[in-house]
Amino acid sequence: AVLILLGPPGAGKGTQARMLEDEYGLVQLSTGDLLRAAVAAGTDAGKAAKAVMEAGELVSDDIVLAILQDRMQEPDTKAGVILDGFPRTTVQAEALDGLLQANGQKIDAAISLEVEDEAMVERVSGRYTCANCGEGYHDTFKTPKVDGVCDKCGGTEMKRRADDNAETVRSRLAAYHAQTAPLIGYYEAQGVLQRVDAMGEIQTVADDLGRIVKAAS
Ligand code: AP5
Ligand code: ZN
Repeated sequence: AVLILLGPPGAGKGTQARMLEDEYGLVQLSTGDLLRAAVAAGTDAGKAAKAVMEAGELVSDDIVLAILQDRMQEPDTKAGVILDGFPRTTVQAEALDGLLQANGQKIDAAISLEVEDEAMVERVSGRYTCANCGEGYHDTFKTPKVDGVCDKCGGTEMKRRADDNAETVRSRLAAYHAQTAPLIGYYEAQGVLQRVDAMGEIQTVADDLGRIVKAAS
């Protein structure tokens, strides 16, 4: 299966993709994570992306497509993928259509996580993750059972993203509305769009997504 999660920063794409990964054996493919790994590794793509990401703007389609194509070639993606944060522009959406067609695959569902902008600033500013396993947490909405200790792996080092401050979140929201929101119409026209209310509790949203994934697979 090929599923796309669309939504602004803080909508819960990463949170939900990881839950679907655990439950349905799909592979989460986050271009944000791949880009952050490239930045950390200091590759040419990472060097070009770093300042753009810190400003909350979109990295160029060329760089993103090259990184995504490489990742799609790895065998673990054959069982099915959840695209988290990709595509984000019409150019990327068209390139994805071509790539899937060449592989004999198709999009089962493009899921738009529908949220309110103002709530997103709070969600993103309060977010942190386990440095060891990447599990996501939030100061208010999702705290570990023992403060400072990861529920999943027991790790005690938590980290925050450089672009998770209120000012950069506003740039990221603006980029979403200008460049990514048009994809909702793009997928509606293809007949694969599903809208999910993502303002509710994490588990409620997960239940709604689970129903869509089951129907699609
Ligand atoms: P990326 O890493 O994709 O970030 P993003 O789209 O801004 O999304 P986030 O990771 O901020 O939010 P999310 O929806 O995953 O929310 P989460 O589940 O963490 O991209 C970063 C940058 O990389 C971009 O700005 C761009 O520069 C570049 N980039 C990436 N892909 C690109 C592409 N394709 N093209 C060009 N450039 C690209 O949830 C947020 C918080 O809220 C968490 O703490 C969570 O615990 C909490 N939470 C989640 N759900 C709920 C809920 N229902 N109720 C309460 N709290 C919740
Ligand atoms: Zn952990």
